[in-house]
Amino acid sequence: MILFIDTANLKEIEEAAKWGYVKGCTTNPSLIAKEGLTQKEVITKITKLIDGPISAEVTSEEYEGMIEQGKELFAIDPKHIVIKLPMTNAGLKAAQEFKRLGIPTNVTLCFNVAQAVLAMESGATYISPFLGRLDDAGLESMKLISDIMKVKKNYGYDTKIIAASIRNVEHVQTCAIGGADIATIPFAVLSKLITNPLTKDGLEKFRQDAAKTAALSK
Ligand code: E4P
Repeated sequence: MILFIDTANLKEIEEAAKWGYVKGCTTNPSLIAKEGLTQKEVITKITKLIDGPISAEVTSEEYEGMIEQGKELFAIDPKHIVIKLPMTNAGLKAAQEFKRLGIPTNVTLCFNVAQAVLAMESGATYISPFLGRLDDAGLESMKLISDIMKVKKNYGYDTKIIAASIRNVEHVQTCAIGGADIATIPFAVLSKLITNPLTKDGLEKFRQDAAKTAALSK
């Protein structure tokens, strides 16, 4: 499963990029708003830190505005920028037009299989099913990814599924078991993926035993 970072914070992106296993970045208007810079400034800076797909979301709710804004965002860095579009009829029309133009898209705010089918039929490059927000609403999130992956396989869609709204390590594991192509993960959760108390204890034991062996050669 490919791992993206879900943030617009440049320090977090810089740190995660050093690990070598974070291959892309997703942003949204709420994440951008935390940074105190314009969307163009933030996205431009992210393109210097991540050599992979970077989702930049349109804020216009009208088809024409989405196309105009999407083209402007794409022009920042055509090698990396993916235009994030909302799950609305205007967003799906824009996904169809961007496909015709060869501009990659990520249809966001997907909460069920029916919406995923619409986005895949519209030729979205990526779709982002949200897990955490389903949990917040008291709805079942565990099966969403595996269900969408099954539909993707049934019809041979080449849309990539980005599991989003990830809140914890269990979500990441569920996505991997469910076959998600990609998971986009906030920095706090990404940082936790490597930790396990048994790994820590095991390392400590190896450290102590290695010191005993090293003492023999003194
Ligand atoms: C996805 O691309 C979104 O940016 C994100 O995953 C939303 O997550 P949230 O529900 O934690 O805001």
